Amino acid sequence: MDYVIECDGRIIGHINYSVGSIDYGDEKTDAVVLGPLAIHKNCQNQGFGSKLIEYTLNIAEKKGIPFVVVIGDENYYHRFGFISASNYNLYLDGTDTSEECPFFMMKIFDESKVENKRGIFFNPHVFDVDENNVDEFDKKFEYREKLVLEGQLGV
Ligand SMILES: CC(C)(COP(=O)(O)OP(=O)(O)OC[C@H]1O[C@@H](n2cnc3c(N)ncnc32)[C@H](O)[C@@H]1OP(=O)(O)O)[C@@H](O)C(=O)NCCC(=O)NCCS
Repeated sequence: MDYVIECDGRIIGHINYSVGSIDYGDEKTDAVVLGPLAIHKNCQNQGFGSKLIEYTLNIAEKKGIPFVVVIGDENYYHRFGFISASNYNLYLDGTDTSEECPFFMMKIFDESKVENKRGIFFNPHVFDVDENNVDEFDKKFEYREKLVLEGQLGV
């Protein structure tokens, strides 16, 4: 699921959801993950990110999705009801599963559909991008300098 916010004909924000998987050892299930999410730097801190998240979480709930996971800054995502996934014995692939991982969170819509056993979440394969391939793809477009800006979560 993808949504954008358009302002005066320009896209100023984008949110994406895709499907990863959870390995419970004896079974595997699909799990929806929120991200990436980005708001144009000139439009940040004006509520656009919150609007995109709230609007799309509402759609996810109406679609009957039991929960959504996210990897991000807990200071931002807690306000939308995301809590640490380790509270539900769910851990992110590649992280230490012996302790809480605060940046891996879940928002639960239907508690009865949350497995009460240890699981490892794997990101969708579409996240496994080769930076060289990305650079080649970018060459098809007008040159733009890549920047890492203040405010990018997790940088
Ligand atoms: C993070 C981001 C999506 C937030 O969207 P936004 O529209 O700027 O934020 P909102 O206006 O909805 O919310 C503002 C609140 O978020 C907080 N916030 C903004 N950016 C934040 C960040 N990087 N880390 C933690 N909190 C942040 C603000 O402090 C503000 O808090 P307050 O309400 O307590 O004052 C946006 O700043 C962005 O695109 N950043 C760069 C890309 C990125 O890091 N994406 C997230 C990937 S998980």
